[in-house]
This record gives sequence, C-alpha cells and structure tokens, in this order.
Amino acid sequence: MTMTQLPGPKAPALIQLLQWVANPLTFMEKYAKQYGDIFQVKLNRPMVFISHPKAIEEIFKTNPKQFDCGVGNQLLRPLLGDRSLALLDGTPHKRQRQLLMPPFHGERMQAYGKLICHIAGQVANKWEVGERFSMRKSTQDISLKVILQVVFGLDEGDRYDQIEQILSETLESLGSPWKASMLFFKSLQIDLGAWSPWGKFIRQRQKFDELLYAEISERRQELELTRNAIAQPSSSCYRYDILTMLLLARDQEGQPMSDLELRDELMTLLFAGHETTATALAWAFYWIHHQPEIYNKLLQELEDFGDNPDPIAIIKLPYLNAVCCESLRIYPVGMLTFLRIPKSPITIIDKTYPPGIALAICIYLTHHREDLYPEPKKFKPERFLERQYSPSEFLPFGGSNRRCIGAGFAMFEMKLVLATILRRHSLALAEKQQVKPVRRGVTLAPAGGVKMVMTGKRMQA
Ligand code: HEM
Repeated sequence: MTMTQLPGPKAPALIQLLQWVANPLTFMEKYAKQYGDIFQVKLNRPMVFISHPKAIEEIFKTNPKQFDCGVGNQLLRPLLGDRSLALLDGTPHKRQRQLLMPPFHGERMQAYGKLICHIAGQVANKWEVGERFSMRKSTQDISLKVILQVVFGLDEGDRYDQIEQILSETLESLGSPWKASMLFFKSLQIDLGAWSPWGKFIRQRQKFDELLYAEISERRQELELTRNAIAQPSSSCYRYDILTMLLLARDQEGQPMSDLELRDELMTLLFAGHETTATALAWAFYWIHHQPEIYNKLLQELEDFGDNPDPIAIIKLPYLNAVCCESLRIYPVGMLTFLRIPKSPITIIDKTYPPGIALAICIYLTHHREDLYPEPKKFKPERFLERQYSPSEFLPFGGSNRRCIGAGFAMFEMKLVLATILRRHSLALAEKQQVKPVRRGVTLAPAGGVKMVMTGKRMQA
C-alpha cells in the first residue's frame, strides 16, 4: 500500500492543525471512528496516527537508526535548546542518554523517597479545613519543589525562589491552547517587546538561563574544591542531586558535559519532569475522589500498611499501582509519543511508509481501544490487577530508545505523594460535575485544575 492510499481527513492542513491544537481528543476520536486505527492527517507536516498494537510493537522493535525522532520535537527547541535529549538523534542522542540515565536508576532514585514524602506533607499542610483549592496548583507546587531539590539539590535561597518563580511563569505562559499555539505557529514567534506573548517568553527564558548558568558555575567550583580537599574522593563525598551526578559524568571518551549541554538537559528535565507529573497527580486525585469505592479500597490498602511505611514498600502496593496506571491510561498526559520519521521506505505490518512521513504513535487512542480496555471511558483500576498489558498496549511513557527516562521516577513520585496525602488528609471534590480534559502546552490536563476541599485531618503530619 502506498501513502496516497492511507485514509484520513481531507480538510486543509491549517484547519486540521487548529482542530488539533484546540480540541485534540475530539480530533483523534472523530477521525479514528471514521478511518480506523491507522490514518493520515496534516498538521505541521503529514503525519500518520497509529493506535494498532501490532504496528506499535513493530515500530518499537525497529532499529532506531531507521528513524529520525528529535527533528519531530523542533517546536520545543525555543524552550529546551539545541542540545536537549528530546531533540537529538543518532550518536549524540545515545551519548546524552547514557549520561542522563544513571541518576534515574532504582537505587539512586530511591534515595529521594523521604524527600518526596516530606515535600508532599509540607504543601498539604498549607490547606485549611473547608477551604477550596486547585489540586493541580498544589501538585505543581509539589512536583516543582521535588524536581528542583532532586535535580539541583536546591531547597532554599534567593536563586531557588527565582528559579521556582520563573519556571512556573514560563510554563503558565504556555498553559492554554491559545498560548500553546505560540509553539505550533512559527508566525506567532515574534518579539514585539516585553508585553507581547513571545517577547515575554524570550525574556523569561533569558533570565532563567542566567540563573542556570550561575548555578552550574558555582557547582563546578564547589566540586573542584571537594576534589582538591580530598585525595581520593568517592561518590559519597559529593551531594546526591542529579546536577552533581551530571557534572561528574563522563562519556565513553572520558569527556564531561559542556555548560551548554548541561543547560539544555537541566531545562529538559525540569520541563519534562515537572509539568507531566503534576498533571498526572491531579488526575489521580480527581479519579480517586470521584468514585468513593476506589477511595475506600485504596485507603484500606494504605492503612493496612501501618503507621510509618517505608517508601520502598509503598511503591510495591498493588492497588495503588493499579490506580496510578489507570489514571495514566484514561487521560495519558502525553497524547502521542515523539514522532518516528523513517529515513528510508519502511514497511510496518502491511503498509509501506515513505521517508519523511511522521509516524505518531497515539497513546490516547491505544488506551481507549475497546478490545484492550472494555468500557474504556470508565475508570477501573481493577483491569490492571486482572491483566498484564504489553508495552505496545499500555504506553504512557512511550517506548524503545526514546522511552521516558523519568518513567520510574514519575511513578515513584506519584505513589509517594498520593500515599502521604491520602493517609493524612480527608479531601473531597469541590464540584460534582465531571472534569474535562484540555490541552495544556503539549499535555492533556484537567480543565479548571480539579477544585477540591479539605474536609479534615486524618493523622498528625
Ligand atoms: C507522569 C509523568 C510523565 C509522563 C506521562 C511522561 C511521558 C513521556 C513520553 C510519552 C515521552 C516520549 C517517549 C517516546 O517517544 O517513546 C517522554 C520522554 C521523555 N521524558 Fe517523560 N514523562 C513523565 C515524567 C518525566 C520525568 C519525571 C522526567 C525526568 C525528570 C522525564 C523526562 C523525559 C525525557 C528526558 C524524555 C526524552 C527521552 C528521549 O528523547 O530519549 N519525564 N516522557
């Protein structure tokens, strides 16, 4: 089959792009219903939306050398920079991934457990009984503090406050479909001064860069001092944050990361790790409180566990795991994986795709397949207890050589934050109506941010 034979909407590219930016779920569901689980659309470029598990499996198993992937993320370049892992391909991508992966490995990561519980408790302690608050704002507060402390090892001081503020403002400036369209439409990327949307974004980014470079420089000097003070320093002599590990990391040729590489990777980790986890947590709180039987079952599991559970034990709880998975299934924060763009003609099951066409694995549509997830619009954590899903059926973190490097960390953080807050605070949804999913930048977030009230405290923090 050639590309021209692929089914798909005939509307002009601009109309399709506007529909996709403004209402991505309607866009995907409408065309999947009309054209099936593989169809072609025209957004910034011709793209094929794929939600066929066998085709996804084949793409994940294809040698990554056959695809360009980073080039499909160009719209994030203004934010993340040229050297961001997400924008690279081939050997440079492999090199950066090797440098970035170790801090996210199990043992290292688990050292952050107590810190995450502490931060979740601190943020929740600000809630007053009877007061309405936006859960998404609170989870954003938590995930930002977590990422700043875990990535930078920063937890107070002027620079921390400034980084926290500018990062929130920058992400807020991309927060609605309209604002996010700045990333999709190059023609909106004009600096008309500090008050224009793009001008404001550019200035925020510049300020942010100054702060990042200042921190990198200070930390390099700090490491030098430690090295000089101790004859044979071991890893336990250093701070335990990701920036320190990246400063110490060497590639296969023994080369460290440059300041420019560090800036772009730090920005990538902050951006990819904070917004996504905050949204996933807000959805989880919403679903848990939307269905009392789920709340009761989860609480039972957490209570059975005793008074002061060890973070490592919490992450092994089966129902908590099922709730997090179901939450990421029903509204996956990332609706698509990164694009896979064949470099030469490639056949996936019975279809041959020409070079240059962008293959978009559609996480949302795959997670809503009736044959995999009966009653897909219903929140049912039990499905994850009753069945094991393959990597091409359940893929909130994508797959293959581009699989999210923070997947384990994100699940770890979600579970610890939920367990800490649910055990200590009684909460309820402030509004009865169903919360709708809306685009927030490149993610799928709850409209209105999930308004909740604290109805009481369950145990002393
Ligand atoms: C619930 C939270 C999160 C979700 C749903 C999520 C989802 C994703 C997805 C779908 C991808 C693309 C994978 C692909 O194309 O196959 C990705 C890539 C990535 N994620 Fe995450 N992510 C989350 C949290 C995090 C965290 C906590 C970090 C780090 C602190 C992180 C860092 C990254 C990076 C660096 C990439 C690029 C990987 C590469 O290009 O090789 N993410 N993520």
